[in-house]
Amino acid sequence: MANALIQLHGLTKHYQMGSTIVRALDGVDLTINQGEFVSITGQSGSGKSTMMHLLGCLDRPTAGQYILDGQVVSSMLDSQLAAVRNQKIGFVFQTFNLIQRTPAIDNVSVPLFYGRRGNTRERAMRALERVSLDKRATHKPSELSGGERQRVAIARAIVNEPKIILADEPTGNLDTRTGTQIMKIFHELNASGVTVILVTHEMDVAVQAKRVIRMRDGKIVEDKPVDESVRKELLGAHANVEAAIAAAQKTAPATTSQSDKPPPPIARPVEA
Ligand SMILES: Nc1ncnc2c1ncn2[C@@H]1O[C@H](COP(=O)(O)OP(=O)(O)O)[C@@H](O)[C@H]1O
Ligand SMILES: [Mg+2]
Repeated sequence: MANALIQLHGLTKHYQMGSTIVRALDGVDLTINQGEFVSITGQSGSGKSTMMHLLGCLDRPTAGQYILDGQVVSSMLDSQLAAVRNQKIGFVFQTFNLIQRTPAIDNVSVPLFYGRRGNTRERAMRALERVSLDKRATHKPSELSGGERQRVAIARAIVNEPKIILADEPTGNLDTRTGTQIMKIFHELNASGVTVILVTHEMDVAVQAKRVIRMRDGKIVEDKPVDESVRKELLGAHANVEAAIAAAQKTAPATTSQSDKPPPPIARPVEA
């Protein structure tokens, strides 16, 4: 597998919460090749963000192996992980995570300082050009729209020319039209050879990738390439689920459960 960029073998992340163990990631095997465009979907709590943190070398697994670009990163020291992160990975978050009182160009430059790269301003400007925001280089985040802020964040993510972009719900805080513009940028980056991995719980966003992975309870429960028929099928299934939820909400009182498991049987009257 010459072009396997990411290889996970039994990747596991457990959290000890008092006497219970939360299996946030439960033995995941996965290969992602150089140049893929993958979305990871699943309900809240299914392990998507945990997966992104591990893929992004922001966290270490409890067990299992992560090989990134031929290097076993799962056993690296923090300082080595930081270097890998800076060289190979760009992050985009739902909430943009920009430094507020700082012009766009300086936000974009931040990874260059960590990487001790030269020509800082020129590189940052080039990254802003790639997201068509060079004309807003001196604007602070507060002077930009949500979509523009996310474009600054993407410029920051690509300024070091990473092999991988990891985006966790990048369109979650944006309206549909702006979200579509952001997705267009990810498509362009992918077309230029960057591997894009995107977490979203919105199926209409997920199906824009070339491969959709669905998670549940810390495991991968579905993994398929997206062609036109699969896109229709996934969107249709999603529409059915949405319709069923809407119908259930009309007839039943609202519940706060985020899980799709049935509630436990009630053995005795529940106190209010
Ligand atoms: N730092 C943590 N400590 C304890 N439990 C956590 C922690 N982070 C995540 N979890 C738990 O792991 C599970 C997966 O979480 P997460 O990866 O954030 O899911 P998602 O992004 O799909 O909503 C959830 O049950 C969550 O409560
Ligand atoms: Mg999450």
